[in-house]
Amino acid sequence: MHIMSVVGARPNFMKIAPFIRAIHQYNDNHPDKIEHTLVHTGQHYDKRMSESFFQALGIPEPDINLQIGSGSHGLQLGNTMIEFEKVVVSHDPDWVVIVGDVNATLSCSVIAKRHKKQVAHIEAGLRSGDIKMPEEINRLVADRLSDLLLTPDRISNANLKAEGVADDRISFVGNIMIDTLEANREKATTLSIAEVISNNAVADQPEKPIDTADRAFGVMTMHRPSNVDNEEILTGLMEFLLTEATVEIPLIWPIHPRTRKQLMKFGMWERVLSHPTLILLEPVGYHDMLRLNMGAKIMLTDSGGLQEECCVLGTPCLTLRWNTERPVTLREHGGASVLVGNNVNQIREEFFATIAKDAEPKRPELWDGQTAGRIVQAIVAAHKAKELVTA
Ligand code: UD1
Repeated sequence: MHIMSVVGARPNFMKIAPFIRAIHQYNDNHPDKIEHTLVHTGQHYDKRMSESFFQALGIPEPDINLQIGSGSHGLQLGNTMIEFEKVVVSHDPDWVVIVGDVNATLSCSVIAKRHKKQVAHIEAGLRSGDIKMPEEINRLVADRLSDLLLTPDRISNANLKAEGVADDRISFVGNIMIDTLEANREKATTLSIAEVISNNAVADQPEKPIDTADRAFGVMTMHRPSNVDNEEILTGLMEFLLTEATVEIPLIWPIHPRTRKQLMKFGMWERVLSHPTLILLEPVGYHDMLRLNMGAKIMLTDSGGLQEECCVLGTPCLTLRWNTERPVTLREHGGASVLVGNNVNQIREEFFATIAKDAEPKRPELWDGQTAGRIVQAIVAAHKAKELVTA
């Protein structure tokens, strides 16, 4: 059996690392070997957004890089389809495995099905219900086309069933991100926050001495177009962060390239750079981010993956979004996060309430570090079932 898996952007890398390891483990223990080809679409290409994750997580060099790069959605989606089609035709895999909800997920599912390949989607069934999010469109298309839907939680199973998906296409395997978290937790523990700051600080910041003891600082990340592309919204958020949140507790902020660009465009960059208790970092590596999260008193983020990691680590999390495709991480389901959107009054209220208390770590069902092995088993079983049907 030949599996071709596809990654494109940063949140894909921590999901593919354990999957590739599980394929190797399968091959060590079974006579019927799985051939594996890794395709990187090249949507993320900076060392800090891509290569550093391959190195830190032991992901093999991609066999093929489509070098799509940045650009409009149409350009990324279209160019990925054009380039991926050549690879599917020349390599002729039995299965194409797509992960998460980035542009590669959509493009490659379409091309794989056009060429009659079996498609498995890791992290299937997540729904925010917000069709304005590019990721929601990516999820809907990828799930509609996939033969095997590998879900991280039971809410995702219910979402798929409500859309009329037959039971035999759905396999509840747990959350593969947590495999990576568990495999790297020990290494992250050995890092010091002061080191993480000094190794990653954005250049040209004045000295910003802060207390780096665990729970003495908060961490934030923000990159969604809905938060950073509109000047009024970004200005409101930044005012709260610069004049209220950072007065209460210093914030460490690994900044996404898109956000940095927007702050410069709207003339806020210099003020952010010189703020004494807002520490700006370049995009950080996997272990550094895990260490920051482990030590944080509070997380403010619009990232989906961080919501999940906060849930398992027990870091109180304000999710800077109006909805989430990951409701299992919310307080009402026992998790650590709460939706606050980008309304500053709501953020303020939850920020001060949250900073006053701790959250408990919560491990949803099958978020046990063993998901990748279950995924390989599910694909092998689906492949054998298909061979029986076509024989
Ligand atoms: C993508 C994903 C999003 C994910 C995020 C994590 C889609 C639709 N979105 O959004 O779901 O949460 O990745 O980072 O696929 N840039 C660089 N260097 C890079 C990559 C990007 O400087 O290596 C800059 C470019 O200016 C680019 C901008 O960041 O225009 C945005 O990158 P893009 O790949 O379009 O989307 P993300 O916002 O990163």
